[in-house]
Amino acid sequence: MKEKMQWPWPWRRRKVVVVVVLRKLLTCAICVIALMGLLSVRVHVFPSSKVSDLTDPYKLPTVTQQHELNYQKLSAEKKWTQELTPPHLSKEQAPPHLSKAPLSSHKLNGANGSLDFEKLWKQPSNRDFVPCVQPGSNYTAPDESRGYLLVHTNGGLNQMRAGICDMVAVARIINATLVVPELDKRSFWQDTSNFSDVFDEDHFINALANDVKVIKKLPKDLSSATKVVRHFRSWSGLEYYRDEIASLWEEFQVIRAAKSDSRLANNHLPPDIQMLRCRACYEALRFSPKIEAMGKLLVDRMRAYGPFIALHLRYEKDMLAFSGCTHGLSDVEAEELRTIRENTAYWKIKDINATEQRSRGHCPLTPTEVGIFLTGLGYPSNTPIYIAAGEIYGGDTHMADLRSRYPILMSKVGKIGFC
Ligand SMILES: *[C@@H]1O[C@H](CO)[C@@H](O)[C@H](O)[C@H]1NC(C)=O
Ligand SMILES: *[C@@H]1O[C@H](CO)[C@@H](O)[C@H](O)[C@H]1NC(C)=O
Ligand SMILES: *[C@@H]1O[C@H](CO)[C@@H](O)[C@H](O)[C@H]1NC(C)=O
Ligand SMILES: *[C@@H]1O[C@H](CO)[C@@H](O)[C@H](O)[C@H]1NC(C)=O
Ligand SMILES: *[C@@H]1O[C@H](CO)[C@@H](O)[C@H](O)[C@H]1NC(C)=O
Repeated sequence: MKEKMQWPWPWRRRKVVVVVVLRKLLTCAICVIALMGLLSVRVHVFPSSKVSDLTDPYKLPTVTQQHELNYQKLSAEKKWTQELTPPHLSKEQAPPHLSKAPLSSHKLNGANGSLDFEKLWKQPSNRDFVPCVQPGSNYTAPDESRGYLLVHTNGGLNQMRAGICDMVAVARIINATLVVPELDKRSFWQDTSNFSDVFDEDHFINALANDVKVIKKLPKDLSSATKVVRHFRSWSGLEYYRDEIASLWEEFQVIRAAKSDSRLANNHLPPDIQMLRCRACYEALRFSPKIEAMGKLLVDRMRAYGPFIALHLRYEKDMLAFSGCTHGLSDVEAEELRTIRENTAYWKIKDINATEQRSRGHCPLTPTEVGIFLTGLGYPSNTPIYIAAGEIYGGDTHMADLRSRYPILMSKVGKIGFC
């Protein structure tokens, strides 16, 4: 089965699942909301003095400074069943359009109001799933290494992360010593970070000690050895690696995986391998202390407003150029996107009819549509929304409608940033 059209990272999947992915995008956003909402039962007020106490790398302008909000006034004792109105949106100051948002105020008043509110932020059921990552009693230490596996990950951070988990499992299957994977520096994001910048490298190596031997660098005496470079086949099962890939050891000491995304099937793997993959993802891969501290700071700051929505609005230039979705864009914008597509060699499909693309459900929701959707679900207009994406295409022109529904809209880049 040839992939005719590949979504840019992190959506590089088979075409048939694209529609599902689109739907899941919002579902996921909602799950995040619900989870975060629950975690925010106690509103944590992060005093600005504390923020400025942090040492240099994390010293950021406070939300207070940036938005002239005085959220210190929010009482830490505030119950989450109360609507949290940041001071700059108190009733008198609320812009007139807010009164038009159909579900904003009246639904949350009265005896049934708080029920609605609780429902909106309810934690989704865990359906009795529990973590299951510890190996069984017959699990053995890694077998003697037959050679070295070098991995070049590809895509955005999330895709690389998933790929690393797969490659840990592959190293175990083929009895390889895994060299700490290289991160993709040439992808759309042009991020030059290496593994140890993003992840805690020593923890990664130690946490996997009973599974796979991991080393930081290929031994010097092997640096000139002939390496075999392979694009492992997508969605492969255990047999492919055990039979086809492991047979490369007969000739080579070093195998290099040119890509890491979706190289291991999700199903029909032995439980031990599946659990190893989970251990790699959820235990061994941990952000570096610097990033953990930064993440904690951001989350604390976001929670200061109460329950919030983290919205992965994939309305970014690369996505629109790649998918050919131009609904609601000007002719100039549509032409810019077409040119980008034309000039990007590894995007195979150049000629796209935007109308047909959209009617097939292959386009990301526009910011306006996301706003309608969230309003429809009943999220009041004073819900804080944090954009978990890069630069939104067209910037404010395409965000105006969403912003008028949800004025507390912040992004991690640009002048309205929350960092
Ligand atoms: C709450 O809503 C239910 C139906 O959704 C209605 O039967 C009930 O009378 C309402 N209670 C109050 C106090 O408004
Ligand atoms: C080890 O135990 C697991 C279940 O805990 C089982 O699925 C697997 O087949 C066993 N492996 C061997 C080699 O016995
Ligand atoms: C890995 O090593 C074990 C033990 O030596 C062996 O049974 C197994 O066949 C090896 N697997 C591969 C793919 O080489
Ligand atoms: C990774 O990056 C850091 C700093 O950015 C640098 O000190 C280090 O040498 C790099 N490691 C490798 C293996 O390139
Ligand atoms: C794109 O497809 C629509 C619907 O099939 C059609 O009406 C329109 O003419 C097409 N546009 C171009 C430029 O081919």
